[in-house]
Amino acid sequence: SLMQHIHQALENGILRLSFNRPERKNAITTAMYEALAQALDQANSDPAVRVVLLTGQPGVFTSGNDIQDFLNNPPSDTQSPVFRFLHALSHLEKPLIAVVDGLAVGVGTTLLLHCDLVYATPEARFQLPFVNLGLVPEAASSFLLPKVAGYQRAAEMLLLGEVFTAEQALAAGMLNGILPSNQLLEHALGVAHKLAEKPAQALRLTKQLLKQPYLSQIQQTMRAEGVQFIRQLSSPEAREAFSAFIEKRKPDFSKLG
Ligand code: COA
Repeated sequence: SLMQHIHQALENGILRLSFNRPERKNAITTAMYEALAQALDQANSDPAVRVVLLTGQPGVFTSGNDIQDFLNNPPSDTQSPVFRFLHALSHLEKPLIAVVDGLAVGVGTTLLLHCDLVYATPEARFQLPFVNLGLVPEAASSFLLPKVAGYQRAAEMLLLGEVFTAEQALAAGMLNGILPSNQLLEHALGVAHKLAEKPAQALRLTKQLLKQPYLSQIQQTMRAEGVQFIRQLSSPEAREAFSAFIEKRKPDFSKLG
């Protein structure tokens, strides 16, 4: 079913959405994007939801888009589940807290740029490997990351696509705090409880005011990225990168223009 790999639990006004596909490092499939998009859209209209918490499991938040799924079900237009998810993410009206215990690759990192609060463990590792995969940035990260981290740092993360640490993510302005694994969820839940007790209307309006100045640029960037992303997905560069991943070898781009 749609919800098989996304766990949902609503308790005391806190909607907890968890990536739950540990055998694939929580790699996200089209069904998972669809489930998340629906859950986020419903959160907007459900008065019982005061705050949304997004988590993975100890050791892994998510390894990003499922590369096998990229080959089997590539997004063909901006109505595809991945883009529906990104739209829902950028239009969520309630506070969104991300809890990153471990790996956060690709969209696992770019989605954090849309969250209101982000907490991670000292061992958390982030990566934006789009170029390495023959792809381009998504989730408006080509706009949001330079804004958050500064141009040079964003260029380094997006052009080189190397793994960076929680300490580096904090220094880049992408995190609110770093907590040991055994305190992380408790801390995030504590913050979520505080938010859940606040006046919902004032909270919603404040988030709207914080996000509003950038909303149209975010949508514009997502559209522009989406066009190039879909184009690159069927490029020889991406084909080589995906084959290399599946065959567990180093990609060779030397023969491609
Ligand atoms: N898509 C598809 N399968 C994935 C995946 C992904 N994004 N991430 C992990 N998996 C699979 C692995 O292929 C492996 O499958 P196998 O058991 O059949 O060999 C399984 O999940 C476990 O992952 P593994 O690579 O053994 O774990 P690791 O701890 O050594 O490495 C990662 C974890 C995330 C660093 C590594 O799997 C990786 O680089 N994944 C790809 C990340 C990526 O490029 N995402 C796309 C961003 S757009």
